[in-house]
Amino acid sequence: MSLPQPKFPVLSWRSCLPSSEPLPPRFGGSRHRLHTTSGRAALACALRHMAAAHGSAVGVPTYHCPTMIAPVVMAGLRPQFYPITDEGLPRLGALLDSQGKSLVQALLVPHYFGVPRNLEPVQQWCRMHGVLLIEDCAHTYFGMAGDRPVGCWGDYAIASISKFKPVPEAGILLLEPKPDQAIELSSTAWLHELKAAFTVIERALSFGRLAGLGVLYRATMGLRKLLKREHRVITDITQPIIPSSQTIGTNNEQAIAYCDMDRSFRHPSRVARLLATCLPEGPIVAARRRNYQRFLQAFGALDGATPLSQHDMRDGAPYVFPLLVRDEDRAHHLYHHLRISGYAVFRWDTLWPGTLSLAGDAGQLWSHRIIQFLCHQSLGEADIERTVREVQRLLNPSPASTPDPRHAPA
Ligand SMILES: Cc1ncc(COP(=O)(O)O)c(C=O)c1O
Repeated sequence: MSLPQPKFPVLSWRSCLPSSEPLPPRFGGSRHRLHTTSGRAALACALRHMAAAHGSAVGVPTYHCPTMIAPVVMAGLRPQFYPITDEGLPRLGALLDSQGKSLVQALLVPHYFGVPRNLEPVQQWCRMHGVLLIEDCAHTYFGMAGDRPVGCWGDYAIASISKFKPVPEAGILLLEPKPDQAIELSSTAWLHELKAAFTVIERALSFGRLAGLGVLYRATMGLRKLLKREHRVITDITQPIIPSSQTIGTNNEQAIAYCDMDRSFRHPSRVARLLATCLPEGPIVAARRRNYQRFLQAFGALDGATPLSQHDMRDGAPYVFPLLVRDEDRAHHLYHHLRISGYAVFRWDTLWPGTLSLAGDAGQLWSHRIIQFLCHQSLGEADIERTVREVQRLLNPSPASTPDPRHAPA
């Protein structure tokens, strides 16, 4: 597959084939699930269910995607930025006042990049201080976080399904249902269902998948044009938010608009739910591990950058591979070159307006120097090799590159 590379999974015939590959434990075990349109919608629903008083503070990390903060502000709550450790966990001391009381009523803690983290100490801290824990599993749908599956530590846990499966919209909120506090979601019109199906097929065809469906698809172009206006709206959520400080704006209203929170309280389309439920998960996990392992092996030998961690992902299914570039200018140039050339990379350098610079915070450094390389199943071995070669070419002054272990002599 040539550039541009898909930034989210796309449907292919192969992804529909049955599989008997073993699966790691999955998000949230058997807890109660509310199906939403996205991870940010799941967060919005959690905050509504929590019913915290207007203006209450929610602890959020300085290293974030703005879609993690928008639901907090939209709910009339106040983001209280906290610093993170080199392991990506909250520096909890920063959330206490001088009397040792918590500054926040709720705490949002992500498992960054798809690496499950044991949140037992964070959960204990939350219990001790009467704080509600929201476990953010947007990057981490599979795996064990300590002695529990991901999604089992928080009072609430959220997932972003479109990062793992070829669906235009879908998220999950796990919660303890309260009979007097049901979360009302509005229903999905049949037109929206149709548009969701079109979006899935259109994305697949645009990346050369679902061979044979193109003719059928073109035959329905007339109908598609009729749906065009709202169709464009639904397509937007499948697009990654492209970091750009020009577009997020300088105040909360502009930043909320940038995050597209419109579908927060709607049921996801049936098409998205059906695909999310029925597609086999074994190949998804296997492909993501394979892609991650290749990055780990190749990027261990770079001159100007290093893998953020040596986690081998044998027990999870990564979202991205985080590469820490030593020099900020180099990180900037490398990232922009890769983005413009169509490689599947992200960087979280667009922060919510008013994000604080805090002492001892790895987040500030990460937002400029970490490049996130996507690992999803729609990136084949050729895509990953191409990315590896390009990064080696740009970062290693000499052409000495690590051999691909799969091609090494036995
Ligand atoms: C850690 C984290 N949490 C939540 C979200 C929001 O998920 P979604 O894009 O499904 O709304 C994102 C989005 O990138 C994310 O990275």
